[in-house]
Amino acid sequence: MVKNKKDTVVFFDTTLRDGEQSPGASMTFQEKLLVAQQLAAMNVDIIEAGFPISSTGDFESVKSIAKQVEGPVICGLCRANEKDITTCWNAIKYSKKPRIHTFIATSDLHIEKKLQKTRQQVFDMAVKAVKLAKSFCDDVEFSAEDASRSDVEYLCSVVEAVIEAGATTVNIPDTVGYSIPSEFGKLIATIKQNVKNIDKAVISVHCHNDLGLGVANSLAAIENGARQIECTINGIGERAGNAALEEIVMAIKTKPLFYPVSYNIKTKEIYKTSKLVSNLTGVVVQPNKAIVGINAFAHESGIHQDGMLKDKSTYEIMSPQDVGVPESMLVLGKHSGRHAFFKRLKDLGYKLEPNVMEDLFAKFKLLADKKKCIFDDDIDSLVEQGVSGVKEIYSVDYVNVTSGVGVIPTATIRLIKNLKNNKSEVLQEAACGAGPVDAAYRAVDKITGLKVDLTDYTLRAVSGGEDAQGEVNIKVKFEDAVYTGKGMSTDIVEASINAYVHAVNKIVVMQLGGKK
Ligand code: KIV
Ligand code: ZN
Repeated sequence: MVKNKKDTVVFFDTTLRDGEQSPGASMTFQEKLLVAQQLAAMNVDIIEAGFPISSTGDFESVKSIAKQVEGPVICGLCRANEKDITTCWNAIKYSKKPRIHTFIATSDLHIEKKLQKTRQQVFDMAVKAVKLAKSFCDDVEFSAEDASRSDVEYLCSVVEAVIEAGATTVNIPDTVGYSIPSEFGKLIATIKQNVKNIDKAVISVHCHNDLGLGVANSLAAIENGARQIECTINGIGERAGNAALEEIVMAIKTKPLFYPVSYNIKTKEIYKTSKLVSNLTGVVVQPNKAIVGINAFAHESGIHQDGMLKDKSTYEIMSPQDVGVPESMLVLGKHSGRHAFFKRLKDLGYKLEPNVMEDLFAKFKLLADKKKCIFDDDIDSLVEQGVSGVKEIYSVDYVNVTSGVGVIPTATIRLIKNLKNNKSEVLQEAACGAGPVDAAYRAVDKITGLKVDLTDYTLRAVSGGEDAQGEVNIKVKFEDAVYTGKGMSTDIVEASINAYVHAVNKIVVMQLGGKK
């Protein structure tokens, strides 16, 4: 049991850094800003906005988040060397609350095989890095990468030295998700007992999910004195992902006797944040995922439904409203005007520029002509598409697809290519394929001349009803990089083409710098 009742556990969200390291989960500049704003609305304590040295794009997005997102501490990651740390500082210094997060591995395996250094060299590099970071910024976090597989005595000596050098948070990652809860809890207790200046820093943990124990390990760490939890929305991250923020917060909220600690997260924002991250990254949330899965609060069996009608607590340990699952999704239709639409946007928590709202209203009207009921899900998807910031280099102008039994699937596609100086070019091609979508994708490839491989394709209905919009999420590979694309329409072939063109636009903007 946690002893100190007044302690607060702070939540360090690394969706934009470790989460974005999930294969194919990369987000555009504007998408990251949107996620950061929602994380701030959910009141996370620290946002790890990115790894500024890793690319110019990451540097710029960390910088814009530092400039524009207020409330949480804005943190950047850097390795333990001068160039990384200086670059990190140059990106985060615009925040009112900047944090430098520097790391180096402390396990013998990483020290010898990966870094090809000695323990002493790593010790010195860690101390030097923290001192340099401290010269820029008061708030410095140090991570001992692969801590859970490090020699404990050596780990404690590094932790003590970096605190002495000025680290205010010391992070103990289970980098490869190798620990089990009793073992990891003991490691945190050992650090708390043996590092003599540990009271001068916050103990943090960062648990990966390779054995499905990321959340359990994080909770065991809280029981043993950790007061910062590093996690991601929906548990996305490298390999099997990171500990899921929503699961840890709700475990603390639901079991106050076991975790008598406070936290600052506004749990009612959880569902919205989860959907935003899933929609923008294209990483789908499994239906039975705890807290945010579509079935997390669904009661199917007759016995359960009967119990629920008599008393909800028979089968519900927390209420869906606590995590912001909307009670009714039905909102607007084709007769709804600008005022109602803008109010709904506001109620859903969007703060958008007037020109973006006007643009969305026009798209809403087009959709409402095709679809009787516009649900919150439809509006969320419109917003996510409208603010993704992916420049429409290519846009779909005309589609004619033929397919059927005994017919060779054929597609004729016309795209408008938007050139500089408000000029455009009309490009048209036809192709055959294994099916209508394949034929259409081949025709698009002929137009763009890009060799794009489709690696993943999912189709889902955005909301209920026979006229539900189809939402297509795809992943494509281009020259070893993975891009996501999303398209929506009441026509699923059109949705598929929109998704493909969305991914192609990302390739042209992000990889080819607009040159194609
Ligand atoms: O998993 C890990 O060890 C990390 C560190 C950089 C904190 O992501
Ligand atoms: Zn990690």
